[in-house]
Amino acid sequence: MLEKLKGYLKPGSPEEKLAAQLDPKRMPRHVAIIMDGNGRWAGKRNLPRIEGHRAGSKSVREVVEACARLGIEVLTLFAFSRENWKRPKREVARLWKLLEEYLKKEDKVLMENNLRLKTIGRLEDIPESTRRQLERVMALTSSNSGMQIVMALNYGGRMEIVDAARRWALQGSVRPEDLDEDGFSRFLDTAGLPDPDLLIRTSGESRISNFLLWQIAYSEIWITKVFWPEFRKAHLLEALVEFQKRERRFGALCPPRGRG
Ligand code: IPE
Ligand code: IPE
Ligand code: MG
Repeated sequence: MLEKLKGYLKPGSPEEKLAAQLDPKRMPRHVAIIMDGNGRWAGKRNLPRIEGHRAGSKSVREVVEACARLGIEVLTLFAFSRENWKRPKREVARLWKLLEEYLKKEDKVLMENNLRLKTIGRLEDIPESTRRQLERVMALTSSNSGMQIVMALNYGGRMEIVDAARRWALQGSVRPEDLDEDGFSRFLDTAGLPDPDLLIRTSGESRISNFLLWQIAYSEIWITKVFWPEFRKAHLLEALVEFQKRERRFGALCPPRGRG
């Protein structure tokens, strides 16, 4: 078992049994999560939607720690989409406040665990006080060398692609024949990050909701019915076990079969 999981998982627990099935050499480098179902989780309990978001931040804490211990290099969390501005003003305002509180509390944990915070999405449109906290924690953690937590905030995949094209065009005389995939990737918000190997969506919805459209070309997708506030390390381990059972072919034949 992975060294950093020892003492973290209860001996004989379902989590430990799942972890024992993992091949440490075949872990995903990048896990991306569409954290969905906070509102329905709250609704089932007759609670206001914000309580679902609050409970969801506990899942974030747990998943961050579990991923770091599992040796994941990048964890991308979809926390607020470009389209989420369509929600009632009050819910939107409270979501940003909740993120601010999370950042104020979690900075120590990020430092103690050598984690780095990064964001993707348009930060300029989010409330000033939240942006200040984000900038503070990003600067604080910028020289940490452990797992990167990438928060997708005011993020939309299509917008990111258009912004990247715009940035490239602004560089001056780009000739059409010079446009290529690697060059384009360098202008995306995710420049320098590996593409997600595993994409998880909670709450049972089978859609992408404008998340990482370019980057998930060959990601393995795992969907669970569990609402995000109920998502625990056992679910993450389950996703990883399933991921390792998949055969990633990237269009090729692997292992080679038959004659050409
Ligand atoms: C995910 O939960 C959090 C955000 C999108 C900000 P939702 O708020 O979408 O919860 P449901 O999908 O309505 O249950
Ligand atoms: C996707 O969830 C965005 C985040 C998890 C932040 P939504 O709840 O906004 O997605 P739809 O509206 O169900 O597609
Ligand atoms: Mg939702």
